[in-house]
Amino acid sequence: MIRVKKIAHAAYEVPDVQAQTDYYTEIVGLTLTGKEKDAVYLASTIDHHSVVLHKGAQAQCTRIGFQLGLDDDLDAFERQVASHGIKTRRKRDPDPTISDMVTFEDPKGTVIEVFKREAFSGQRYPAKGIVPHKLGHVAFHVTDVKHVTKFYCDVLGFRESDWMADFFSFLRCGPDHHTINLMQTGSNRHFHTAFELRDWGHLQTACDYLSLNGYKLLWGPGRHGIGHNLFAYHRSPAGLITETFAELDRMNEELGYFEPRPWHRDHPQRPKVWPKDPAAANLWGVMPTDEMHQ
Ligand SMILES: [Fe+2]
Repeated sequence: MIRVKKIAHAAYEVPDVQAQTDYYTEIVGLTLTGKEKDAVYLASTIDHHSVVLHKGAQAQCTRIGFQLGLDDDLDAFERQVASHGIKTRRKRDPDPTISDMVTFEDPKGTVIEVFKREAFSGQRYPAKGIVPHKLGHVAFHVTDVKHVTKFYCDVLGFRESDWMADFFSFLRCGPDHHTINLMQTGSNRHFHTAFELRDWGHLQTACDYLSLNGYKLLWGPGRHGIGHNLFAYHRSPAGLITETFAELDRMNEELGYFEPRPWHRDHPQRPKVWPKDPAAANLWGVMPTDEMHQ
């Protein structure tokens, strides 16, 4: 099986593209790498874009991009997807630095874009904003978590890192504990988009910077049980929730457990089903506000 190797980008429709662009450049600290007639490209590190913005009536995540390895065969990957009865499309030069792409829809209607990246770009270190290391994961509300989880595992090659009871799955496509997470709540929509920060000190600076610029935290800071990442959530101008996180568990695939950390309760910490317990959500004890679920 050909597995996707990392999350590359997420694309959003927002009513006010300029306001959301300002947020990503001034507050989050991404670099504006391209502006075309209907798309704004924003990046960190070596990818030309980690976030793409389009104008749309309501704020939503419309597409997610995943990268294959340079030795993977995109034609064979397309056949692998089609073998599940999924209709694929091929796009030539769809976006800067992407020459060839296979696209298809996941069961909740998000467009999946899979490609190989041969052309890398290097962003200069931004002088303002939070400046995350990278786009870490995108979380969704879903109506059928088992069905969508199976799709990501069977079609894209994801692995299950953890579950909370039978309603919240955490899936990885590389060493990071989760790249996609899916929570069954009765609707199909974006839950949050997460950016990785360096450490606790960076997270503190980020919370202060958000506060100085009028952004209040929805939840956190805390430490999740599942994934064990330090977290703090806020809402972007478009209404979409952003998570900043650090110290997410990283999997050692050869050994089958997460790199040991002193805050783990299991020794070693292996993928498992966690009970629906406050500790799974926040080891430090403070539970999310109702606003997190709006
Ligand atoms: Fe998250």
